[in-house]
Amino acid sequence: MLDRRTFVAAGLAAAASCATAAPVARPVAKKHLLILGGTGFLGPHQVRCALARGHRVTVFNRGRSGKGMFGPDVEELVGDRNGDLSALQGRGFDAVIDESASQSSAPEWVQRSTELLRERTEQYLFVSTRSVYLDTAAVPMTTAAPVVTRENSPVPEGRPLGYGHAKAYAEKAAHAAMPGRVTVVRPGLIIGPEDDTDRFTWWPVRIARGGEMMAPGDGSDHVQNIDVRDLAEFQLRLVEDRTFGVFNAVGPDGGQTFRRFLERIRAGVGGNAEFTWVDVDFLLERGLQPYGRELPGFRPMRGSTAGFGRFDLSREIAAGLTFRPTETTARDTLAWWNTLPAERTAAIKTGLGAERERELLAAWRARAGR
Ligand SMILES: NC(=O)c1ccc[n+]([C@@H]2O[C@H](COP(=O)([O-])OP(=O)(O)OC[C@H]3O[C@@H](n4cnc5c(N)ncnc54)[C@H](OP(=O)(O)O)[C@@H]3O)[C@@H](O)[C@H]2O)c1
Repeated sequence: MLDRRTFVAAGLAAAASCATAAPVARPVAKKHLLILGGTGFLGPHQVRCALARGHRVTVFNRGRSGKGMFGPDVEELVGDRNGDLSALQGRGFDAVIDESASQSSAPEWVQRSTELLRERTEQYLFVSTRSVYLDTAAVPMTTAAPVVTRENSPVPEGRPLGYGHAKAYAEKAAHAAMPGRVTVVRPGLIIGPEDDTDRFTWWPVRIARGGEMMAPGDGSDHVQNIDVRDLAEFQLRLVEDRTFGVFNAVGPDGGQTFRRFLERIRAGVGGNAEFTWVDVDFLLERGLQPYGRELPGFRPMRGSTAGFGRFDLSREIAAGLTFRPTETTARDTLAWWNTLPAERTAAIKTGLGAERERELLAAWRARAGR
């Protein structure tokens, strides 16, 4: 079993430091940042980015997923947001980046940590999610779209809050505890080196393998993701500039078609992959689910998800959001993937198996009479 520390260390060479990509040339006031989390997927990128920009970093987590991974440059506090915040008692920080509250208990976690820290920090940045939106039907989507509540999207009696509800109520808890001093960032799918979910990674891996491959839809559906390093940089800029408010975090602005997305991945990783576009309804009839294991990161742009890949990011860009080219994300992700042990790369967690892909393509050809 590959532990988290080894997994991340394997990617360091492939994951360029954010300092090289950040187009910010002006001097920055050095801050002492508390990162709640810090050792998952986004966390190490956020920590490295902050260190590269000269900030001082303390992380708080249970010490399970990456104890000691940063060495002596980072102070590690161990506790549990489910009840043990004692390591934070009496401590002060210039800003807090909360990237660990994603469970159904997120509202209570945020309530406790903001109550404890509000007198001893200037800014609380909460990492939320695109899943807070009631739907993504609007084109373009902006932060003005309605968010889920218990009223507009009832939670069955006795059931824990789902992910979108938990994040939405956690946002509210942060605003209530620290009015005017909260920054909320709502990322879409976070992609890039060190992602253990393989939801984006599958595409560069499959495309690099080459040959005919199944591509969902007719190529016109839009897609917006966020490179983990772009997200880390954006969040750091929001903290450095003391920017408050609510922001989405996907890219590029307005989205790109799935056709362009796959072509850019191919340009990034090379190879001779040829895309056979297969009708979405044909795929759904055969049990593939949008955003499911066999169709990672893909949603048809229609009905309640018409705007899922079509966010207008003018406000976010004005606040400092930048985007790496998809080619770069794909190339770096594949380079990192190729450093992992064979036992891990043999067990990719998403995407179509080779046999299933062949069957689908054959059935599609038969149906199309080709
Ligand atoms: N990944 C995506 O595509 C995506 C998309 C939108 C939004 N987001 C949001 O982005 C944030 C970061 O995501 P991620 O994928 O990087 O998360 P992750 O890999 O699950 O990392 C979670 C972090 O929280 C810590 N943690 C977990 N339970 C804890 C507890 N009870 N007490 C204290 N610390 C605890 C973990 O360390 P220990 O295990 O050592 O405690 C780890 O450092 C999350 O809030 C997520 O909801 C993610």
